[in-house]
Amino acid sequence: MQRKSTLTERGFACIALDRPADGVNVGHALRAALGFGARMVILGGADPKINVRKLSTDPGRAYRHVPVLEVDDIFDAMPNDCTPVAVEITADAVDLVNFVHPERACYIFGPENGSISSEILEKCQSVVKIPTTMSLNLGMTVNIVMYDRLAKSTRKRNA
Ligand SMILES: C[S@@+](CC[C@H](N)C(=O)[O-])C[C@H]1O[C@@H](n2cnc3c(N)ncnc32)[C@H](O)[C@@H]1O
Repeated sequence: MQRKSTLTERGFACIALDRPADGVNVGHALRAALGFGARMVILGGADPKINVRKLSTDPGRAYRHVPVLEVDDIFDAMPNDCTPVAVEITADAVDLVNFVHPERACYIFGPENGSISSEILEKCQSVVKIPTTMSLNLGMTVNIVMYDRLAKSTRKRNA
């Protein structure tokens, strides 16, 4: 007998931050993870002063509902069969507006005062940028990318 799946959505999204330095942005990312249904947050080489349990921008304590992994190398925590997507302003980045999100994606964001490391960029099949006139705040960027994924998957479902 074939049982019908009760899954409401195929695939999953994870959020990874490369060397975040400011707990305010980590809190925004955790809150976005909870709000948009990301399954995991990876913090790679985060500033040791950041205490994930005490972030003013994460009043809902997202870490209690979304696993947060703190690692040196983001790729040590990369799920199986998951596409790493770098979110960064580079010359050959694809515009987010035209980007088709992978079913299983890990979105990687760079640090507040820099960019995603070249080692990470080399391992990412896709690099996407938000077509802004200047770089945005890290926490804001996480929310925009997660909203874009939600909007496109909702449109696809309703088509
Ligand atoms: C505040 S930005 C870093 C500063 C930036 N490298 C600069 O030169 O001003 C932090 C991170 O947010 C993401 N980001 C910000 N604006 C972006 C945009 N328009 N498109 C894609 N990623 C963006 C990237 O992951 C970036 O590494």
